[in-house]
Amino acid sequence: MPFAIRIHQTGGPETMCWEEVQVGDPGPGEARVRHEAVGLNFIDTYHRSGLYPLPLPSGLGLEGAGVVEAVGDGVSELTAGDRVAYAGGPVGAYSEVRCLPADRLLKLPDGIGARTAAAMMLQGLTSAYMLLRTYRVQAGDTVLIHAVAGGVGLIACQWAKALGATVIGTVSNPAKAALASAHGCDHIIDYTREDFAPRVREITGGEGVAVVYDGVGKDTFAGSLDSLRTCGMLVCLGNASGPVPPFDPLLLSQKGSLFLTRPTLMHYVARRADLVALGAELFDMVGSGKVKIEVNQTYPLAEVANAHRDLAARKLSGSTILLP
Ligand SMILES: NC(=O)c1ccc[n+]([C@@H]2O[C@H](COP(=O)([O-])OP(=O)(O)OC[C@H]3O[C@@H](n4cnc5c(N)ncnc54)[C@H](OP(=O)(O)O)[C@@H]3O)[C@@H](O)[C@H]2O)c1
Repeated sequence: MPFAIRIHQTGGPETMCWEEVQVGDPGPGEARVRHEAVGLNFIDTYHRSGLYPLPLPSGLGLEGAGVVEAVGDGVSELTAGDRVAYAGGPVGAYSEVRCLPADRLLKLPDGIGARTAAAMMLQGLTSAYMLLRTYRVQAGDTVLIHAVAGGVGLIACQWAKALGATVIGTVSNPAKAALASAHGCDHIIDYTREDFAPRVREITGGEGVAVVYDGVGKDTFAGSLDSLRTCGMLVCLGNASGPVPPFDPLLLSQKGSLFLTRPTLMHYVARRADLVALGAELFDMVGSGKVKIEVNQTYPLAEVANAHRDLAARKLSGSTILLP
């Protein structure tokens, strides 16, 4: 019997159990995939802790890459032996093998291996939609990316540079600053030592940035609004420091008729055509070498609790994969 990580209650990393699971033949519209690598994402910690509630007991994980073992009735685009990857629901990627809807899978191009794919699908598709769809970055824009040495941050930084933007990034230590710099980040602010909003004003000659991509949440929300130019956009992506508390929308008017959006990848790839289009843009960027995927940490899947602890302790940079 194959193994998978399961939770029976929400809580800390210790709630994740490595258990034998039943994986049968794929049902209609499904494929059975044997994972070669699984992606670690911050959202996995929200599912584990209960910030984003799941029906329990549950699997965890939203991203994986591997080989199709079998397909169910009605699946015509895939056959056994295809190399595939995915990002998004249903949860359950923390597993050796699983069945999932075939229309969530993308075939991998020859140049992209399973480990790279598992490291880039969720964070790369997120970078793609936020830079190309949510706020369309134009050449000449100055953008602020929080936690720029993180998974989404490092990919988005390189992609924004490829689009012709000037990138300001925040980090929590000198090693992360060096990593961001090596990936093209133009201005780096250690937001644990310096108030980042006045520094952003200084860098932009008082104007502010066109857009802030903020996955940090509670700790950066107010400063992110203060970093925007008139009519700029705050893309509030996540809650690494905790969820943003309620606020009065009048604040957006007072700070310059600002736009605020709280998007999720799931909506931007809900239709198969959108998933395929965004995936093609990601594969092109990685294939061209303009965006390099940095797998900076690897853990055995059975020891994912250690990965969650290190992620919460801000010890990780770039992307992280889990090996079944
Ligand atoms: N909405 C969407 O569609 C979507 C999709 C993917 C990811 N996200 C969000 O984007 C963010 C980044 O995701 P990721 O998977 O790429 O993670 P990540 O950036 O690799 O890790 C999170 C980073 O947040 C920073 N951070 C700041 N305060 C923190 C705190 N109190 N505790 C822990 N970390 C803190 C840390 O960087 P420093 O040490 O440099 O501060 C840490 O490395 C997350 O909020 C995630 O939920 C949203």
